[in-house]
Amino acid sequence: MAHEIHLDPWADLYATRMSNMKGSAIRAMMGSAEIPGMIALAGGLPNTKPIGLDDVVRATRETMKAEGGTALQYGSSEGHKGLKRHIIKLMAEEGVTVDYDDFILTQGSQQALDLVARTFIDVGDRIIVEAPSYVGALQATSGYQPDYLQIRMDDDGMVVDELAVALKKLGPRSAKFIYVVPNFHNPAGVTLPLERRKRLIELARQYELLIFEDNPYGRLRYEGEDIPSLRSMDESVMYTSTFSKIFSPGMRIGWIIAPHPILDKIVIGKQASDLCSSNFAQMVLEHYFDRNLWQKNIEQLRDVYRSRRDAMIAALEEFFPEGTSWTKPAGGFFLWATLPEYLDSSEMLAEAIENKVSYVPGNAFYADGSGAHHMRLAFCYEDEEKITEAIKRLGKVIKGQMALAKSLLIKE
Ligand SMILES: Cc1ncc(COP(=O)(O)O)c(C=O)c1O
Repeated sequence: MAHEIHLDPWADLYATRMSNMKGSAIRAMMGSAEIPGMIALAGGLPNTKPIGLDDVVRATRETMKAEGGTALQYGSSEGHKGLKRHIIKLMAEEGVTVDYDDFILTQGSQQALDLVARTFIDVGDRIIVEAPSYVGALQATSGYQPDYLQIRMDDDGMVVDELAVALKKLGPRSAKFIYVVPNFHNPAGVTLPLERRKRLIELARQYELLIFEDNPYGRLRYEGEDIPSLRSMDESVMYTSTFSKIFSPGMRIGWIIAPHPILDKIVIGKQASDLCSSNFAQMVLEHYFDRNLWQKNIEQLRDVYRSRRDAMIAALEEFFPEGTSWTKPAGGFFLWATLPEYLDSSEMLAEAIENKVSYVPGNAFYADGSGAHHMRLAFCYEDEEKITEAIKRLGKVIKGQMALAKSLLIKE
């Protein structure tokens, strides 16, 4: 049957920014998780199993009893004080001292990314990002049509020396901000060591640049010592984190800390965007966090994710062919695999899906669309047995592609 071609009758009405915005490759892949037998290494879905549902019911009941109609009303754009109290404690544990008016609550960190983008970026403004970079940050910023300066990453995160070389040429105030995910990077899985953090702060000071630190995974460390956040080293750093990975992404609550003049602008953006975050969700979270249950949850989560990461690394060692490599994350959800440069992981995806295994091709994480010989593998979602099977299947697909490429080369 011939496919009907649907032309969009509104195509000439859309804003130019829409032509720069791509749907997230990861969101598109989420559907593939529904295919029977599929093992999903694509999406970074947090494990919500340790959360006691009865505890959430209790927190909800307490919210309705204690807050009554207030929970059902609009709240302040800056966020509910009762929940802010818990965030102040969380941040203090990370060595960051903040007061109620130093930060606002957002709909997850994703909204913080959008608000920072809309506060700072005019068409053609330069922003500095890691390469690879969190795809949701690229999505949030691309609509504002910036000019991306990508700085390469290695096993220790952003290669700050290469940033220094670039800045020497560009000079002071040459970018609107530097966006970094220093802990257990999404997608690269790597962590920026203390020395590089210090150097990054130094460079930002020298060249009068703002740093935007995104730290959703910092508490999901499976070994080693915590490294101080950039924000704890410099109060001009903008910082976002979220309840999505330490509790539940369904609550859609995150926060952003920023210097007051910037925060004032961000609040105006938030009002334009959604007036306020859900009062109800903020209050349920407050009551849940009042009982300190999240600490037990997170210990369980660390155990589960650590064991899944170990299973993935063991399977990679066993089933991935020579000529491939991967990062060894000390925390977080993702590991970054590198294939020989002649392979294209986005072209290979169809064959992987046929073999009932999904991943996210590397080029989704580069502002310039490069990086196709990498792939992001999520170890957070499937159990050890399925992860091992998925890596075995993927190893076979890669070996097949390598053999094919070799035979084509010999024929030429
Ligand atoms: C690096 C990074 N930043 C921000 C987010 C957004 O998280 P949320 O909006 O659920 O808080 C994610 C989610 O995966 C992420 O990996």
